Amino acid sequence: MAADTGGVRGIEARLRALVPDLPAGARLPSTRVLVAEHAASPLTVQRAVQRLADEGLVETRPGTGTFVAPRFERRRAEHSWQTTALGPARTDAAAVGTAMAATPPGAVALHAGYPVAELLPGRLVRSALARAARSPLGLDRAPVAGVADLRAWFAADTAPPGSRAPAHPDDVVVMPGGQSALSSTFRALAAPGDAIVVESPTYWGAMAAARQAGLRIVPVTRGARAPRAQDLDDVLAASGARLFYAQPHFANPTGALWTAAERAELLDVVRARGAFLVEDDWAHDFGIDADVVPLFGEDPDGHVVTVRSLTKSVAPSVRVGAALARGPALARLQADRTVDDLYVSGLLQVAALGVLSDPGWRTHLRWLRGALRSRRDELARQVVAHLGAEALPHLPRGGLNLWLRLPDRTDVAGLVRRSREAGVLVAPGDDWFPAEPPAPHLRLNYTGAAPERFAEALGVLASLLRPAGLRG
Ligand SMILES: Cc1ncc(COP(=O)(O)O)c(C=O)c1O
Repeated sequence: MAADTGGVRGIEARLRALVPDLPAGARLPSTRVLVAEHAASPLTVQRAVQRLADEGLVETRPGTGTFVAPRFERRRAEHSWQTTALGPARTDAAAVGTAMAATPPGAVALHAGYPVAELLPGRLVRSALARAARSPLGLDRAPVAGVADLRAWFAADTAPPGSRAPAHPDDVVVMPGGQSALSSTFRALAAPGDAIVVESPTYWGAMAAARQAGLRIVPVTRGARAPRAQDLDDVLAASGARLFYAQPHFANPTGALWTAAERAELLDVVRARGAFLVEDDWAHDFGIDADVVPLFGEDPDGHVVTVRSLTKSVAPSVRVGAALARGPALARLQADRTVDDLYVSGLLQVAALGVLSDPGWRTHLRWLRGALRSRRDELARQVVAHLGAEALPHLPRGGLNLWLRLPDRTDVAGLVRRSREAGVLVAPGDDWFPAEPPAPHLRLNYTGAAPERFAEALGVLASLLRPAGLRG
């Protein structure tokens, strides 16, 4: 027997070769046999066995022996039958936007969808969570529509008294985040096969939720700010859609904000067509040079359904949001939500309310406005310095993102991949287009990375974009 087969490595290799051909639970050669075969000490054998046990390949049962672990059998399982059984996918991994990708250690996260901890009211959240744990709803089930005081808070914060159509607490259904609220709204207010009109570009998660609800997505081009009223009227008429999903405030990804005139014209079209405007007010707390005034407060007749979320402003861990609606649409939304989830965790609702009713919340929002401004301006400065002013046609007045226009024929997928390899994560504009992207774009988020790293990140993008780099 060759000398090197007697060491830990030799014994390990022998066992590793045996394991794939044996069924789970099969007994492997005993320590005594391995000692004899490899002329090794029992300790050496134990070390080799332990290495395989650490990987989950084998199980040792003291006094009985060593066996092939059950996990190994699962690795060799045969799943190909599922392809036929499942048929075409309505939602698959490709539906999930790049913004949800994990950040490797040390990388610059300009792709992110959620702000870093330093931009959150961390102290308020932690103490509210601790207080919530001690409250009755720290254990009990919450009401199906949500905790009364939280519903009242969402109503007053979305369309306060004095609005043309103030929101009543009964108009509010508490949701486990904005994404669920969009899913519920699309499912509850439309039937599979129906059309839904969306601005182009728009939030990838809204498109994914609409597809999951079996809806047909019909894009309407968003100009510099809003779609033209005539275009919206035409697509609603041609498609028969009764739902129009839109982000009037600091849209993700463009950052655009509808003007007062655009709001009025588009709402008139929606009313005249007997349709719903699903207003995604995700950026309610992220005004920088302008404030958000939801359209819910301008529509007493139930054409507007407004979706709110606290996950980006209170904390991503506090998955609490709301949908506001009126009339039968509200009843349908409530029923859909209850069937889906029964109720939202009372613990999280009470914690959210604890943060929102603390005087420190308003102080935090004032501070946040300044912090967002300086991050936005620093990222914009670096974009212009490295890529030129034409890369940033529009500086958003709020929100969390810059929307970059890249040179024609840029290979966006290649740029995103090579940038990731260089430690800079960015999101391809293509994720936000409901149909073929008319031009190459990138979305850069200014709240997921340290501003001190913006210059380095833009340097990487600029070097990858140089002629002969990623232009076709
Ligand atoms: C435009 C928009 N709407 C809704 C959501 C949903 O967020 P959440 O489910 O965390 O509230 C997001 C998250 O990125 C978003 O960007």
